[in-house]
Amino acid sequence: MAEVDLVAEFPRPAGATRWAEVMARFAAGLNAQGRRVVLITSGGTKVPLEARPVRFLDNFSSGRRGATSAEAFLAAGYGVLFLHRARSAFPFAHRFPPQAWLSTLRPSGASPSGALSLEADEKALPGFASALRRYQEAAAAGTFLAIEFTTLADYLHLLQAAAQALSPLGPSAMFYLAAAVSDFYVPASEMPEHKIQSSGGPLQITMKMVPKMLSPLVKDWAPKAFIISFKLETDPSIVIDRARNALDTYRHQVVVANILESRRSFVIIVTKDSETKLLLSEEEEEKGIEIEEKIVNDLKSRHTAFMCDKN
Ligand code: PMT
Repeated sequence: MAEVDLVAEFPRPAGATRWAEVMARFAAGLNAQGRRVVLITSGGTKVPLEARPVRFLDNFSSGRRGATSAEAFLAAGYGVLFLHRARSAFPFAHRFPPQAWLSTLRPSGASPSGALSLEADEKALPGFASALRRYQEAAAAGTFLAIEFTTLADYLHLLQAAAQALSPLGPSAMFYLAAAVSDFYVPASEMPEHKIQSSGGPLQITMKMVPKMLSPLVKDWAPKAFIISFKLETDPSIVIDRARNALDTYRHQVVVANILESRRSFVIIVTKDSETKLLLSEEEEEKGIEIEEKIVNDLKSRHTAFMCDKN
Protein backbone atom coordinates (compact mmCIF):
# COMPACT_ATOMS: atom_id res chain seq x y z
CA MET A 1 0.00 0.00 0.00
CA ALA A 2 1.27 3.52 -0.81
CA GLU A 3 2.69 5.39 2.17
CA VAL A 4 0.39 8.22 3.39
CA ASP A 5 2.31 11.42 4.12
CA LEU A 6 1.02 12.29 7.60
CA VAL A 7 3.26 15.32 7.89
CA ALA A 8 2.23 17.01 4.63
CA GLU A 9 -0.88 18.69 6.06
CA PHE A 10 1.20 20.63 8.61
CA PRO A 11 2.86 23.87 7.41
CA ARG A 12 6.51 23.29 6.54
CA PRO A 13 8.84 25.48 8.63
CA ALA A 14 11.18 27.94 6.94
CA GLY A 15 14.64 26.43 6.62
CA ALA A 16 13.43 22.81 6.65
CA THR A 17 15.24 21.93 3.42
CA ARG A 18 18.53 23.37 4.64
CA TRP A 19 18.20 21.56 7.97
CA ALA A 20 17.49 18.29 6.16
CA GLU A 21 20.78 18.68 4.26
CA VAL A 22 22.71 19.57 7.42
CA MET A 23 21.31 16.51 9.23
CA ALA A 24 22.07 14.20 6.30
CA ARG A 25 25.70 15.44 6.18
CA PHE A 26 26.07 15.09 9.95
CA ALA A 27 24.74 11.51 9.93
CA ALA A 28 26.77 10.44 6.89
CA GLY A 29 30.00 11.84 8.37
CA LEU A 30 29.56 9.98 11.65
CA ASN A 31 28.48 6.82 9.87
CA ALA A 32 31.71 6.91 7.83
CA GLN A 33 33.61 6.93 11.17
CA GLY A 34 31.63 3.87 12.29
CA ARG A 35 30.02 5.85 15.11
CA ARG A 36 26.51 5.19 16.39
CA VAL A 37 24.15 8.14 16.21
CA VAL A 38 21.17 8.92 18.43
CA LEU A 39 18.38 11.33 17.61
CA ILE A 40 17.07 12.84 20.83
CA THR A 41 13.80 14.74 20.78
CA SER A 42 13.37 17.01 23.76
CA GLY A 43 10.92 19.50 25.23
CA GLY A 44 7.27 20.19 24.48
CA THR A 45 5.57 21.28 21.27
CA LYS A 46 3.46 24.42 21.03
CA VAL A 47 0.16 24.42 19.12
CA PRO A 48 -1.19 27.75 17.81
CA LEU A 49 -4.89 28.49 18.23
CA GLU A 50 -5.02 31.36 15.73
CA ALA A 51 -3.53 31.79 12.24
CA ARG A 52 -1.73 34.94 13.43
CA PRO A 53 -1.04 33.31 16.74
CA VAL A 54 -1.38 35.12 20.02
CA ARG A 55 -2.43 32.05 22.01
CA PHE A 56 -0.99 28.54 22.08
CA LEU A 57 -1.59 25.17 23.73
CA ASP A 58 1.66 24.11 25.39
CA ASN A 59 2.83 21.53 27.91
CA PHE A 60 5.00 21.08 31.00
CA SER A 61 8.14 19.51 29.53
CA SER A 62 11.34 21.33 30.56
CA GLY A 63 13.64 19.40 28.22
CA ARG A 64 15.86 18.35 31.10
CA ARG A 65 15.49 14.63 30.32
CA GLY A 66 16.64 15.21 26.75
CA ALA A 67 19.48 17.58 27.63
CA THR A 68 20.95 15.37 30.36
CA SER A 69 20.60 12.30 28.15
CA ALA A 70 22.45 14.08 25.33
CA GLU A 71 25.42 14.59 27.66
CA ALA A 72 25.35 10.92 28.68
CA PHE A 73 25.13 9.69 25.06
CA LEU A 74 28.08 11.90 24.04
CA ALA A 75 30.09 10.49 26.96
CA ALA A 76 29.14 6.99 25.78
CA GLY A 77 30.62 7.68 22.33
CA TYR A 78 27.44 8.39 20.35
CA GLY A 79 26.97 11.18 17.85
CA VAL A 80 23.97 13.18 19.06
CA LEU A 81 21.38 14.91 16.91
CA PHE A 82 19.49 17.01 19.42
CA LEU A 83 16.06 18.11 18.20
CA HIS A 84 14.79 20.39 20.93
CA ARG A 85 12.19 22.98 21.77
CA ALA A 86 13.68 26.45 21.51
CA ARG A 87 14.66 27.84 24.93
CA SER A 88 14.18 24.51 26.69
CA ALA A 89 17.06 22.86 28.60
CA PHE A 90 20.23 22.69 26.52
CA PRO A 91 23.03 20.13 27.09
CA PHE A 92 25.93 21.38 29.23
CA ALA A 93 24.21 24.75 29.81
CA HIS A 94 21.00 23.89 31.63
CA ARG A 95 22.55 23.69 35.09
CA PHE A 96 23.81 27.25 34.78
CA PRO A 97 20.92 29.72 34.50
CA PRO A 98 21.84 33.29 33.49
CA GLN A 99 21.52 34.59 37.05
CA ALA A 100 24.28 32.14 38.13
CA TRP A 101 26.89 33.22 35.60
CA LEU A 102 25.84 36.87 35.32
CA SER A 103 26.71 37.36 38.96
CA THR A 104 29.83 35.16 38.88
CA LEU A 105 31.76 35.77 35.65
CA ARG A 106 33.85 38.95 35.68
CA PRO A 107 35.46 40.60 32.65
CA SER A 108 39.19 40.63 33.43
CA GLY A 109 40.48 42.50 30.43
CA ALA A 110 40.48 42.61 26.66
CA SER A 111 43.44 41.92 24.37
CA PRO A 112 44.42 44.36 21.54
CA SER A 113 42.70 41.98 19.10
CA GLY A 114 39.45 42.47 21.04
CA ALA A 115 39.39 39.01 22.72
CA LEU A 116 37.61 39.30 26.05
CA SER A 117 38.94 37.44 29.11
CA LEU A 118 36.56 36.31 31.79
CA GLU A 119 37.31 34.92 35.20
CA ALA A 120 35.19 33.21 37.80
CA ASP A 121 35.66 31.57 41.12
CA GLU A 122 35.31 27.84 40.30
CA LYS A 123 33.58 27.27 43.65
CA ALA A 124 30.89 29.83 42.81
CA LEU A 125 30.09 28.07 39.54
CA PRO A 126 30.89 24.39 40.21
CA GLY A 127 31.04 22.23 37.10
CA PHE A 128 30.97 25.19 34.69
CA ALA A 129 34.50 24.79 33.32
CA SER A 130 34.07 21.05 32.85
CA ALA A 131 30.70 21.53 31.09
CA LEU A 132 32.21 24.14 28.79
CA ARG A 133 35.13 21.84 27.98
CA ARG A 134 32.87 18.86 27.24
CA TYR A 135 30.58 20.95 25.02
CA GLN A 136 33.48 22.42 23.07
CA GLU A 137 35.10 18.99 22.62
CA ALA A 138 31.86 17.61 21.15
CA ALA A 139 31.46 20.66 18.90
CA ALA A 140 35.06 20.38 17.68
CA ALA A 141 34.72 16.63 17.03
CA GLY A 142 31.50 17.25 15.09
CA THR A 143 29.59 14.75 17.24
CA PHE A 144 26.83 17.11 18.36
CA LEU A 145 24.24 18.88 16.26
CA ALA A 146 21.38 20.87 17.82
CA ILE A 147 18.27 21.88 15.90
CA GLU A 148 15.35 23.83 17.34
CA PHE A 149 11.61 23.48 16.96
CA THR A 150 8.81 25.51 18.50
CA THR A 151 5.49 24.43 17.08
CA LEU A 152 4.06 20.99 16.50
CA ALA A 153 4.40 21.53 12.73
CA ASP A 154 8.13 22.36 13.05
CA TYR A 155 8.63 19.24 15.17
CA LEU A 156 6.86 16.88 12.77
CA HIS A 157 8.72 18.09 9.68
CA LEU A 158 12.11 18.06 11.41
CA LEU A 159 11.49 14.60 12.89
CA GLN A 160 10.69 13.24 9.44
CA ALA A 161 13.80 14.85 7.94
CA ALA A 162 15.96 13.56 10.81
CA ALA A 163 14.60 10.06 10.36
CA GLN A 164 15.40 10.17 6.67
CA ALA A 165 18.92 11.40 7.45
CA LEU A 166 19.52 8.54 9.92
CA SER A 167 17.84 5.80 7.93
CA PRO A 168 21.02 4.89 5.96
CA LEU A 169 22.71 4.04 9.29
CA GLY A 170 20.35 1.08 9.72
CA PRO A 171 20.63 -0.56 13.16
CA SER A 172 23.37 1.77 14.39
CA ALA A 173 20.89 4.65 14.54
CA MET A 174 18.90 5.10 17.74
CA PHE A 175 15.77 7.22 18.21
CA TYR A 176 15.20 8.48 21.75
CA LEU A 177 11.84 10.21 21.61
CA ALA A 178 11.68 12.07 24.93
CA ALA A 179 9.76 15.10 23.62
CA ALA A 180 6.24 15.65 24.94
CA VAL A 181 4.36 16.02 21.67
CA SER A 182 0.89 17.49 21.52
CA ASP A 183 -1.86 14.99 20.82
CA PHE A 184 -4.24 17.71 19.59
CA TYR A 185 -4.13 20.56 17.10
CA VAL A 186 -6.35 22.99 15.21
CA PRO A 187 -6.04 22.45 11.43
CA ALA A 188 -4.98 25.58 9.50
CA SER A 189 -8.27 25.54 7.56
CA GLU A 190 -10.25 25.80 10.83
CA MET A 191 -8.21 28.44 12.62
CA PRO A 192 -9.57 31.94 13.11
CA GLU A 193 -7.23 34.35 11.36
CA HIS A 194 -7.17 36.98 14.11
CA LYS A 195 -6.82 36.97 17.87
CA ILE A 196 -9.80 35.24 19.48
CA GLN A 197 -11.84 37.92 21.28
CA SER A 198 -12.75 37.45 24.92
CA SER A 199 -15.86 39.54 24.24
CA GLY A 200 -17.19 36.42 22.45
CA GLY A 201 -17.66 34.73 25.86
CA PRO A 202 -16.26 31.38 27.08
CA LEU A 203 -14.07 29.65 24.53
CA GLN A 204 -14.95 26.31 22.99
CA ILE A 205 -12.44 24.75 20.61
CA THR A 206 -12.57 21.41 18.84
CA MET A 207 -9.11 20.04 18.19
CA LYS A 208 -8.13 17.23 15.83
CA MET A 209 -5.99 14.30 16.90
CA VAL A 210 -2.34 14.49 15.84
CA PRO A 211 -1.39 11.24 14.07
CA LYS A 212 1.18 9.21 16.04
CA MET A 213 4.49 9.59 14.24
CA LEU A 214 5.82 6.38 15.74
CA SER A 215 3.85 4.49 13.14
CA PRO A 216 5.52 5.88 9.96
CA LEU A 217 8.84 6.14 11.79
CA VAL A 218 8.94 2.41 12.56
CA LYS A 219 7.36 1.24 9.31
CA ASP A 220 8.65 3.63 6.66
CA TRP A 221 11.13 6.29 7.72
CA ALA A 222 13.76 4.27 9.61
CA PRO A 223 12.60 0.65 9.71
CA LYS A 224 15.99 -0.81 10.72
CA ALA A 225 16.74 1.60 13.56
CA PHE A 226 16.61 1.00 17.33
CA ILE A 227 13.60 3.00 18.50
CA ILE A 228 12.74 4.12 22.02
CA SER A 229 9.59 6.01 22.86
CA PHE A 230 8.63 7.43 26.24
CA LYS A 231 5.38 7.14 28.13
CA LEU A 232 4.49 9.65 30.79
CA GLU A 233 1.50 9.19 33.07
CA THR A 234 0.29 10.77 36.28
CA ASP A 235 -1.49 7.56 37.41
CA PRO A 236 1.15 4.89 38.28
CA SER A 237 -1.41 2.10 38.01
CA ILE A 238 -1.77 2.46 34.22
CA VAL A 239 1.73 3.33 33.04
CA ILE A 240 2.94 -0.22 32.32
CA ASP A 241 -0.23 -1.10 30.41
CA ARG A 242 0.11 2.07 28.36
CA ALA A 243 3.75 1.25 27.60
CA ARG A 244 2.88 -2.31 26.57
CA ASN A 245 0.07 -1.02 24.43
CA ALA A 246 2.52 1.25 22.58
CA LEU A 247 4.93 -1.67 21.99
CA ASP A 248 2.10 -3.86 20.66
CA THR A 249 0.79 -1.10 18.40
CA TYR A 250 4.01 0.26 16.91
CA ARG A 251 6.30 -2.79 17.23
CA HIS A 252 9.36 -0.78 18.17
CA GLN A 253 11.99 -1.92 20.67
CA VAL A 254 11.67 -0.04 23.98
CA VAL A 255 9.35 2.23 25.96
CA VAL A 256 10.74 4.22 28.87
CA ALA A 257 7.82 4.56 31.29
CA ASN A 258 7.79 7.38 33.85
CA ILE A 259 5.46 9.14 36.29
CA LEU A 260 5.31 12.92 36.38
CA GLU A 261 6.31 13.45 40.03
CA SER A 262 9.01 10.77 40.23
CA ARG A 263 10.50 11.18 36.75
CA ARG A 264 13.85 12.46 38.02
CA SER A 265 14.53 9.39 40.16
CA PHE A 266 12.58 6.44 38.75
CA VAL A 267 11.80 4.97 35.33
CA ILE A 268 10.87 1.54 34.00
CA ILE A 269 12.47 0.26 30.81
CA VAL A 270 9.80 -1.83 29.11
CA THR A 271 10.44 -4.22 26.20
CA LYS A 272 8.17 -6.89 24.77
CA ASP A 273 9.49 -9.45 27.25
CA SER A 274 10.97 -7.47 30.14
CA GLU A 275 10.47 -4.69 32.68
CA THR A 276 13.57 -3.18 34.27
CA LYS A 277 13.22 -0.65 37.08
CA LEU A 278 15.91 2.03 37.30
CA LEU A 279 15.99 3.89 40.58
CA LEU A 280 18.24 6.66 41.79
CA SER A 281 19.02 6.31 45.49
CA GLU A 282 19.25 9.36 47.78
CA GLU A 283 22.99 8.74 48.08
CA GLU A 284 23.38 8.78 44.31
CA GLU A 285 21.35 11.97 44.09
CA GLU A 286 23.57 13.60 46.70
CA LYS A 287 26.62 12.65 44.61
CA GLY A 288 25.08 14.48 41.66
CA ILE A 289 24.34 11.32 39.66
CA GLU A 290 21.32 11.70 37.37
CA ILE A 291 18.83 9.03 36.32
CA GLU A 292 19.65 9.69 32.64
CA GLU A 293 23.12 8.17 33.14
CA LYS A 294 21.40 4.93 34.17
CA ILE A 295 18.90 5.10 31.33
CA VAL A 296 21.63 5.68 28.74
CA ASN A 297 23.84 2.87 30.14
CA ASP A 298 20.96 0.46 30.01
CA LEU A 299 19.91 1.47 26.50
CA LYS A 300 23.45 1.38 25.15
CA SER A 301 23.72 -2.33 26.12
CA ARG A 302 20.36 -3.09 24.58
CA HIS A 303 21.40 -1.24 21.43
CA THR A 304 24.62 -3.30 21.24
CA ALA A 305 22.60 -6.52 21.49
CA PHE A 306 20.16 -5.23 18.85
CA MET A 307 22.99 -4.40 16.44
CA CYS A 308 24.62 -7.82 16.94
CA ASP A 309 21.29 -9.45 16.21
CA LYS A 310 20.77 -7.48 13.01
CA ASN A 311 24.31 -7.86 11.62
O1 PMT B 1 11.30 17.37 29.75
P1 PMT B 1 11.26 16.92 31.22
O2 PMT B 1 10.62 17.95 32.08
O3 PMT B 1 12.63 16.47 31.70
O4 PMT B 1 10.30 15.63 31.28
C1 PMT B 1 10.63 14.48 30.57
C2 PMT B 1 9.35 13.81 29.99
C3 PMT B 1 8.43 13.44 31.15
C4 PMT B 1 8.64 14.77 29.04
C5 PMT B 1 9.81 12.52 29.22
O5 PMT B 1 10.47 11.66 30.11
C6 PMT B 1 8.61 11.79 28.60
O6 PMT B 1 8.00 10.93 29.21
N1 PMT B 1 8.27 12.14 27.31
C7 PMT B 1 7.11 11.58 26.61
C8 PMT B 1 5.82 12.18 27.12
C9 PMT B 1 4.60 11.41 26.62
O7 PMT B 1 4.11 10.51 27.25
O8 PMT B 1 4.21 11.72 25.45
P2 PMT B 1 3.00 11.04 24.61
O9 PMT B 1 2.15 10.12 25.39
O10 PMT B 1 2.30 12.18 23.95
O11 PMT B 1 3.79 10.25 23.53
C10 PMT B 1 4.33 8.98 23.75
C11 PMT B 1 5.37 8.72 22.67
O12 PMT B 1 4.75 8.81 21.39
C12 PMT B 1 6.51 9.73 22.74
O13 PMT B 1 7.73 9.05 22.70
C13 PMT B 1 6.29 10.59 21.51
O14 PMT B 1 7.52 10.95 20.89
C14 PMT B 1 5.45 9.72 20.58
N2 PMT B 1 4.47 10.53 19.83
C15 PMT B 1 3.65 11.40 20.47
C16 PMT B 1 2.72 12.13 19.74
C17 PMT B 1 2.66 11.96 18.35
N3 PMT B 1 1.81 12.63 17.61
N4 PMT B 1 3.48 11.08 17.75
C18 PMT B 1 4.37 10.35 18.47
O15 PMT B 1 5.07 9.51 17.90
